Amino acid sequence: MAHAVHDRLPFLASPPPPPPPARERGRNPSLAEMLRLVGAATVDPAAAADDDGSASVFSLPLPLPLPATPGRAAGAGGSGGGDGECAPVGRSVQFRLAFTGLTYSVRAKQRGGRPGMLPLQRRSDRVTAAAPDAHAPRTRALLDGISGEAREGEILAVMGASGSGKSTLIDALANRISRDALKGTVTLNGEPLTGNILKSISAYVMQDDLLFPMLTVTETLSFAAEFRLPRVLSPAKKRARVQALIDQLGLRAAANTIIGDEGHRGVSGGERRRVSIGTDIIHDPILLFLDEPTSGLDSTSAFMVVKVLRRIAESGSIVITSIHQPSQRILGLLDRLILLSSGRTVFSGTPSALPSYFAEFGFPVPDDENRAEFALDLIREFESSPTGTKPLVDFHRAWQRMHAPSPGSADADQSSLVPTMSLKEAISASISRGKLVSGSDVAGEAASVHTYANPFWVEMKVLTKRSAINTRRMPELFLIRLGAVVVTGAILATVFFRLDQSPKGAQERLGFFAFAMSTMFYTCADALPVFLQERYVFLRETAYGAYRRASYVLSNAIVSFPPLVVLSLSFAFTTFFAVGLAGGVSGFAFYTLAILASFWAGSGFVTFLSGVIPHVMIGYTVVVAILAYFLLFSGFFINRDRIPGYWIWFHYLSLVKYPFEGVLQNEFGRGGECFVRGAQIFDNSPLAALPDAVKARVLASISSALGVGIGADTCVVTGRGVLQQAAVTQLGKWECLLVTVAWGFLFRLFFYFSLVLGSKNKRR
Ligand SMILES: Nc1ncnc2c1ncn2[C@@H]1O[C@H](COP(=O)(O)OP(=O)(O)OP(=O)(O)O)[C@@H](O)[C@H]1O
Ligand SMILES: [Mg+2]
Repeated sequence: MAHAVHDRLPFLASPPPPPPPARERGRNPSLAEMLRLVGAATVDPAAAADDDGSASVFSLPLPLPLPATPGRAAGAGGSGGGDGECAPVGRSVQFRLAFTGLTYSVRAKQRGGRPGMLPLQRRSDRVTAAAPDAHAPRTRALLDGISGEAREGEILAVMGASGSGKSTLIDALANRISRDALKGTVTLNGEPLTGNILKSISAYVMQDDLLFPMLTVTETLSFAAEFRLPRVLSPAKKRARVQALIDQLGLRAAANTIIGDEGHRGVSGGERRRVSIGTDIIHDPILLFLDEPTSGLDSTSAFMVVKVLRRIAESGSIVITSIHQPSQRILGLLDRLILLSSGRTVFSGTPSALPSYFAEFGFPVPDDENRAEFALDLIREFESSPTGTKPLVDFHRAWQRMHAPSPGSADADQSSLVPTMSLKEAISASISRGKLVSGSDVAGEAASVHTYANPFWVEMKVLTKRSAINTRRMPELFLIRLGAVVVTGAILATVFFRLDQSPKGAQERLGFFAFAMSTMFYTCADALPVFLQERYVFLRETAYGAYRRASYVLSNAIVSFPPLVVLSLSFAFTTFFAVGLAGGVSGFAFYTLAILASFWAGSGFVTFLSGVIPHVMIGYTVVVAILAYFLLFSGFFINRDRIPGYWIWFHYLSLVKYPFEGVLQNEFGRGGECFVRGAQIFDNSPLAALPDAVKARVLASISSALGVGIGADTCVVTGRGVLQQAAVTQLGKWECLLVTVAWGFLFRLFFYFSLVLGSKNKRR
């Protein structure tokens, strides 16, 4: 036993402070003792972590005896489990979350219906909502005076019909509703929860599983570990945490299976749910919020998920979850229930109190019926009755008063479970037990609680690696883009095959470049859904501060760059020689760079739009429309000097303009080439059909009239002349290239700002 305690709390073994005498271990240590322990535990975590890799302060006090797995030697001698061993500092209840009078109203839209009427409510339901709102017809209470509590080690489940306010209550508790809009108090150990403390000690598991589809379960959890576990933790310990979590989540058999998506077979729905929960609880949070973690799962999978929640609670957390129609088995795992109807409490208490509650109310639960289902059905019936659920709400109030523990009663003993420590002390003690394996310095200044677990460059490295693995395992996405680029290139190459140096050839070159350069931008639009899909993962991860937004933006740019190089080279090779473009090696190099810069600017532009427009279809429409305008104002369809003054600003905003002008200069600005000779002056005019001899005579008379000598072979328009005709005179080709590259950077900067401004996920 003593050995196991030292394994878990090695600081107990170091000389200062002395280990508590054996007989004292049964009792709760005093606050001073506890803080001494915490101090010792947090003094030098690096020192604790650098030993042989056996358990340390940061090792996980696994809550439940885990099945012995080969390779987990640490606990082998310690009778396998030992949550009891945490007892000296851990067994008394240290956390109590209490909420009173939570009220949240929104302004009701009055279109059509009468004030206070719910949008989808039937006539008969109206009473429910209308009654409390009679004096405030323009607002609707989604939560109406909800109170309750939850203690460490417990699961509090919120139940109710769809639309009853379950998610809203979870959001309110998880500080996801802005404080101005929410009335009432939420306290942990009697202290109001500030956003920062909550952020670092809690986790919120969203209803959707937002995971990278091509990573395996182990990889997914490992990346979560990289983001959330402190940097002092050695890689071996992080791996150990991941492995422990895999066991805790019951995912051993699926550890090396990919998550999967519509196109790739992966883990089952229940397993995916558990992975999703795992990514949020990797740092072993003290408060865990979940919105319907069992929805869409079969009863066995749902049971598995709730069993996992049970284990998490028993490891010293408070678990608060909403749940739809729990089975009898699941009900047995819950500690407290709150039943909601239209934002009001109709029951709160233990699941075992349900039968007596409803019996006293006059509707006993039949023996053969699921208590939860019975309760929900009864509430639904009341909701559709003329009185609504008011009788139940009133009865609940009376029942609460009746059953409030009186001093000295057996129930009052429960108050011994009320934590005596302040929040800060309790958190410190919890950390010393191995909880909250996070980078946050909660034990120190409460105000400076929230920091990122990793420095910037580590975040970059991990994000880049994760994105690279995911991209590499989905080669089809890249291959489709490559296919699109090569096919477009091949079509262009054959259409514009071996262009000659004639007035028509010059015109065709202009057309070729305009089309080629806008192809780069259109191809980038394909990436929109990918960015959008990733965006949700990003939102979820940055919501709890997994990494800096800037690291994400940079790693996103880094990962997307190598494919662009391949695409650029492919397009350049397919078209340059076939079309017969000028400039040899240096011309080819510039042409390739211009294509690359266009891809870079285009992907930056699309990335930025994906940050601003969260919907795929709208995103596509906007991208395609804006690209069309870019092309229109690029200077190909209408020269710069012919664009009306009030539109000229769009010409300078056009992303296509710069690479287009760059490659034009690369082609026409070299000097020496001739695109119109004397005999070709008549091309594109009614005189083109004249015989050559007649043309020669006309040329001779023009020459004598002007006093210049223009023969049939005299060069009349050089490449530079073509540039002047196209009004491409303002910037040099390298300047064009630089401006294009700068656009790419600018859009990524905008992308960053859109993420900073757009990812405040709170209700107002
Ligand atoms: N911004 C809003 N304006 C008006 N009504 C809203 C708003 N947000 C939520 N509601 C309504 O509040 C009620 C409670 O919503 P909530 O999402 O909490 O329900 P729920 O119990 O979680 O339902 P479900 O089981 O379907 O997820 C619903 O009737 C919903 O339509
Ligand atoms: Mg909901």
